This record gives sequence, structure tokens and C-alpha cells, in this order.
Amino acid sequence: MLVYLNGDYVEESQAKVSVNDRGFIFGDGVYEVIRVVNGGFFQAIPHLTRLKEGLSLLRIDLSEQECESLLDIAHYLLKENDLTEGHATVYIQVTRGAAKRTHQFPNPAVEPTVFISVNRLVPNHELHQKGASAITIPDVRWTRCNIKSVNLLPNILAKQRAEDAGVFSTIMIRDGVVTETQNSNTFLVNDGVIYTFPKSNYILAGITRDVVFKMAKDLGIEIREEPVAEDKIYDMDEVFLSGTTTDIQGITRIDGITIGDGSPGPVTLKLVDKLKNEMEQSGKVISG
Ligand SMILES: Cc1ncc(COP(=O)(O)O)c(C=O)c1O
Repeated sequence: MLVYLNGDYVEESQAKVSVNDRGFIFGDGVYEVIRVVNGGFFQAIPHLTRLKEGLSLLRIDLSEQECESLLDIAHYLLKENDLTEGHATVYIQVTRGAAKRTHQFPNPAVEPTVFISVNRLVPNHELHQKGASAITIPDVRWTRCNIKSVNLLPNILAKQRAEDAGVFSTIMIRDGVVTETQNSNTFLVNDGVIYTFPKSNYILAGITRDVVFKMAKDLGIEIREEPVAEDKIYDMDEVFLSGTTTDIQGITRIDGITIGDGSPGPVTLKLVDKLKNEMEQSGKVISG
């Protein structure tokens, strides 16, 4: 695989970053994952906007020009790696760069490290139709979950707990309400209304989450940014997740308890279909 690192296109095995890189030492950086369908980016601009916001919150100075070139680089990588047909993802990571280890930022600032790779993705259409299981766990993350930081320790520990429990995902609970999962946003459907945790510093407000709001509006389904209490989860008609690589995934069993009738409900299935269609549309235009 060809990847991009700090201005050069190199074979993945030849791409090397310094041991002093603050991404390696501190997790001092941000990342994005963008979905690609038949060579077209899905929601590229919102992803880039979130990346810029993250960089600004961390005070990492990547020039506007470099930001603007990221999608061209990604396009080149998709072509060179033969990923312009079918589904793929672009991974973009920017760290504060390599400098002698100090907690405070290097002064003067150093060049940020920019890494981009592309990968094949096979959507799990079967699981989208069948539904998946989850377990609830405490949300032990910090209170700046709106930053898409490369420091994903609580998220990977959560996913491993799901793996150990033989389920697809965790659903995280903070202060008695559902927040999100380790890598997707959570929606709960009751009496035809969709509920999800409000956009705030307690969740990473997904780009796909925004697409869910738009799709719900198009379908005439009411959606509210209201937290759902932990003890109400099992009584919901439907539960589903959204994310760039998760798509829309119905959750039909939580903590061993069946949700609804045990298969993805009508709201979930409508959104599964609509998202699939919207993604396929994005593949018809080479968007920038
Ligand atoms: C914690 C968390 N929440 C939500 C999401 C979904 O975000 P998006 O729809 O932008 O992929 C992600 C994606 O990685 C995530 O890590």
C-alpha cells in the first residue's frame, strides 16, 4: 500500500515517524475517517471541517493550504492503491509533530506530522439487516469527547470489553443516561420518535449522526436531542448506531435482553436503506 507521510508518497512499510512524535508519546493529535464509495467521498467537507475544529481546539497549526490539499492526496492514494471501485476509507492523522518530550507544546512550534492512508472496507449488509448485540458499560472518558483525539484508550478498552463479551459494541452510560458507543453514535426509538444524546462535549458528534438528522427529516420521522435514561433502554422499540464505518446498525439485544421483537425495526431499516442510497449517490460524483 502506498501512504502519504509529511509531503511524500511512500510504501506503508517504508513510512517512518520519529520516536519523539507527540502522537506516539502523548496521543497529541487528531484524526478523521472518511467513507469513499466508487472513488467519491461521502460528506468530505463536514469531515474536513471537524478536523480543522479539532486542530484549532488543540492549537495545532496546519496551514489552510495543507488542509485544502488533504482530499487531493487522498484521491491520489485511492487511485494508486486501486480503491476507486467499491467501498473504502481514508484515514487522516495530524499530530503536533516530533520534539523533545515536554508536556507543554514545543516552543518554537514544530511541523505537524501528517499521515494519510486508504483502506478497503466491506460493509456488513447482512448484520445491518439482522441486527447486533451490545452491552452497557460506564462512560469513563474525559469531558472533551467532542475532540476526535488519537488518544483512544477508553474506546479501545470498551471495544475489547465488547469483544470479550462476544457482542458487537458497548453502549456507554454517563450520569445515568446513554451517551454513545466507543466508535459510533446511539439512537433510541420510542413511539416513532428518535432520541439521541445532545451535541455537546460528552460525545463525538458524528458526521453520520448529522446525516441521520437529515434523513429522518426527509422521511418525516421526528428526532429529538434528548438523553435517554439507562433504565429505559430495554423498553425502547428500536435502538441503532451510526458511524462512518458502522453505517446504520440496529441493536437488537442489550445486556442479554431483547429489544423490540429481536430484529431491526422499521425506522432502523428505513435509515439503513436510505444511508446506503445516499452513499451510492456520493460515489457518482467525484466530490471534493
Ligand atoms: C466516539 C465516537 N462517536 C461517534 C463516532 C461516529 O462519527 P462519524 O459518524 O463521524 O464516523 C465515532 C467515529 O469514529 C466515534 O469514535
